[in-house]
Amino acid sequence: MTEPAPALLEVRSVVRHFAGRPALDGVSLSVAPGEAVGLVGESGSGKSTLARLALGLLAPDAGTVRFAGRDPYRLRGARDRSVRARLQFVPQDPRGSLNPALRAGEAVAFALRLHGTPRAELAEAVAGLFRQVGLDPALARRYPRELSGGQLQRVAVARALAPGPDLLVCDEPTSALDLGSQLRLLDLLTGLGERTGLGYLFISHDLAVVRHLADRVLVLRYGRVLEEGPVADLWASPAHPYTRALLEAATGHAPRPDPAD
Ligand SMILES: Nc1ncnc2c1ncn2[C@@H]1O[C@H](COP(=O)(O)OP(=O)(O)OP(=O)(O)O)[C@@H](O)[C@H]1O
Ligand SMILES: [Mg+2]
Repeated sequence: MTEPAPALLEVRSVVRHFAGRPALDGVSLSVAPGEAVGLVGESGSGKSTLARLALGLLAPDAGTVRFAGRDPYRLRGARDRSVRARLQFVPQDPRGSLNPALRAGEAVAFALRLHGTPRAELAEAVAGLFRQVGLDPALARRYPRELSGGQLQRVAVARALAPGPDLLVCDEPTSALDLGSQLRLLDLLTGLGERTGLGYLFISHDLAVVRHLADRVLVLRYGRVLEEGPVADLWASPAHPYTRALLEAATGHAPRPDPAD
């Protein structure tokens, strides 16, 4: 009998307050290696707070967070760099997350340098990452202001891939993009996951977006997990009226309500 693979990310009973109010109130979730887990919920439900806890940018008031068996909040310094490299972030707003004074290629090169790529191999490695995210390597010479939103978000993905992560935490990575760019970015991320075994914690307020990528999805409301399950099940037959409302918001034609409720 084979044991299930230990989770890459394990969040257990996490509570986090801001100004006395719970942003997260006892949330548990896990992401196995290579798994894509979606997190949906309306604005203020606690999605970004959970992302920041997972990334070690924030400590929980109660409960535990473990990435590769370590507390991400306590990963510090050069000694922990190799663990840090395995956990990367793609933010919502690529324009805000890239330094306007750095060419796109320099931003990616910086991430590569930080994680030990020798200087002589940088140009080749940057070009390789650009190709991997479907960008012409010639765009590496451009400044962020000279790139479209979709191209910039690909640069942000390239930069996140530079350290060779096992898990990408993506917080609304498509919400600043038009529909066509959204779909292309989702295809890129899905393909990367399939080819490289990369895992995702993928956050969106839009269940239709999460459905493209996620194997499993959790619905967050008021800092609690309301419902969770395989994305196909949730899509076909949401157990909770709130999930159904999210579906309606996402598609305009959600499954018909159950006559029982
Ligand atoms: N640094 C902070 N200081 C005070 N309150 C905060 C802070 N960060 C989050 N909150 C509060 O915690 C709750 C959850 O916020 P969070 O940003 O996690 O929601 P979200 O689901 O990501 O929302 P959105 O979809 O709008 O991004 C909100 O009520 C928010 O106001
Ligand atoms: Mg958020």
